[in-house]
Amino acid sequence: MCGIIGIAGTGPTSERLIEGLRRLEYRGYDSAGIAVVAGDGIERRRAEGKLKNLEQVQRDDPIDGVTGIAHTRWATHGRPTTDNAHPHTAGVVAIVHNGIIENFKELRNALESAGCVFVTETDSEVIAHLVQAKLKIGMDAQSAFGEAIRELRGAFAVAAIMADLPDHVFAARKGSPLAVGITEDETFVGSDSMALAPFTRKVIYLEEGDWCVATPGEVRIFNEAGEAANREITISSATADLVDKAGRRHFMEKEIHEQPESVARTLSQYISAVDEGFTFPAGELGLKNADRLIAVACGTAFYAGATAKYWFERYARLAVEVDIASEFRYRQPALPQNGAALFVSQSGETADTLAALRHCKENGVRTIGVVNVPESSIAREADVHLRTLAGPEIGVASTKAYTAQLSALACIALAAGASRGVMTAEETADKVRHLLEIPRLINEVMQVEPKIEELARALTRHKDVLYLGRGQFFPLAMEGALKLKEIAYIHAEGYAAGELKHGPIALIEEGTPVIVTAPWDELFEKTISNVQEVAARGADVTLITDAKGAGLAGDGYNVVVMPTCDPIAQPIVAAIPLQLLAYHTAVFMGTDVDQPRNLAKSVTVE
Ligand code: F6R
Repeated sequence: MCGIIGIAGTGPTSERLIEGLRRLEYRGYDSAGIAVVAGDGIERRRAEGKLKNLEQVQRDDPIDGVTGIAHTRWATHGRPTTDNAHPHTAGVVAIVHNGIIENFKELRNALESAGCVFVTETDSEVIAHLVQAKLKIGMDAQSAFGEAIRELRGAFAVAAIMADLPDHVFAARKGSPLAVGITEDETFVGSDSMALAPFTRKVIYLEEGDWCVATPGEVRIFNEAGEAANREITISSATADLVDKAGRRHFMEKEIHEQPESVARTLSQYISAVDEGFTFPAGELGLKNADRLIAVACGTAFYAGATAKYWFERYARLAVEVDIASEFRYRQPALPQNGAALFVSQSGETADTLAALRHCKENGVRTIGVVNVPESSIAREADVHLRTLAGPEIGVASTKAYTAQLSALACIALAAGASRGVMTAEETADKVRHLLEIPRLINEVMQVEPKIEELARALTRHKDVLYLGRGQFFPLAMEGALKLKEIAYIHAEGYAAGELKHGPIALIEEGTPVIVTAPWDELFEKTISNVQEVAARGADVTLITDAKGAGLAGDGYNVVVMPTCDPIAQPIVAAIPLQLLAYHTAVFMGTDVDQPRNLAKSVTVE
């Protein structure tokens, strides 16, 4: 992970580098640092913890120069200390790095044997020493950087400055994204176009293996073979405005409450509100005659894919396999011969999901990306990019991106069902009408917040929580548990309700909290039987259901009543109480809700 930025400028850069880091903090917030080429060499400032600590260090003891690099870290090799914080230096060279250098031990051993002294526990420091070693044997700066990059194995984006070249930034990408921004007289490099948005919208996305030499207003790009390369200049849609909390305590709270709009926006991308038909090119998806679909993603996006499996199977009679990207890519999976592969991702940069997509493409499988960030690698590389319009999601725990993914996937599944002749025109139109009701239903379900807050207060006393669901509520149970784990730091597991008695029921003791999502449907009675099994063993059950379910469930549970909705809308609407429960529990626990420990928003390492 980590975020990097570099400026080959004509004016002071320090404040601008920090401004860029503010937009990259979602990529990691363990430590941060900047380095600039100053009058008498390279100067740097670094600080452990959040970016605000670096800002304080820079205020107390400022540095500046017209050329510089900066970094915000999510630690991989080496603890998140100031000493391990980037930029790393060796001789005249300073570097920042995002990713992992897999052969760093081998390189470090060789460099140490040649007399280099390493001062950090990181894999990244090796890059600075490698470039410096090449300068020392007489290579010019460009060749030294290009040669060093060629020797690195792994996935990385790197930016470097050199003390004796006060107007040069060198940068390279392999596996991790890197954007170059240009103006008349300045050049920028950064992990994404959002970091560059305050300075320019003219952006070049480097391709795999590319590296470049940036000087003020100019950039020379080379491909992996070292040949000069021309890459297209695009106009980025990233906005220069920093998203604010709109008066809420946390971004997560704001994002939970934004879901009526974000779901409506996403649905409007797929559905014409006028004739209630699908407006996206469903024919291009290659699902009409497909016999198999694979859906690959990580974390919350994986749970969105797992829910969509129920929809594709039910409404399109299409066999779906759902895979965790980190498992899929190394399993030598049997790929669909007559089918497609779906990749779900908020950031569009998740390393494992991107690698899985590339594997499918290389093997001739049609790839469909369901992605929130339109300029991301997955959005650009998928054969078909279907957008979710959640807008920027700042809270590390995904909320509105998840319901936007579900909304898009519901449309795709229904459109596939219509094109395969499984759904009649009337059945499809009826489902579409139900989808269009979801924003209103989400507004309604927000009314449960005071009740959820009460339940959340009680959850803070517990160390373990079980989430249960059947059918399409099973993936939601796992998503609910993930939310609680990641922001409230309470151990939680999501289980298929019917599976509980095959082992996990042994965990139930007097007072164990069990959260069950079961609006009335054809599986409701079966779920309630499972609920009774845990209640009989002392569990403190919270049942999230609708009015009919509440009437039939019997007594003895905490009941949260959600609005009555069609089955296709239920998992989307029912996600909100689970998000609120995790959120309020975390607030009571006093955790860092928007930037929970050990996490980052965009996971660009495998
Ligand atoms: C959890 C969460 C993560 C992400 C996962 C995939 O709240 O946000 O589990 O869903 O890291 O990220 P994307 O969707 O960016 O590929």
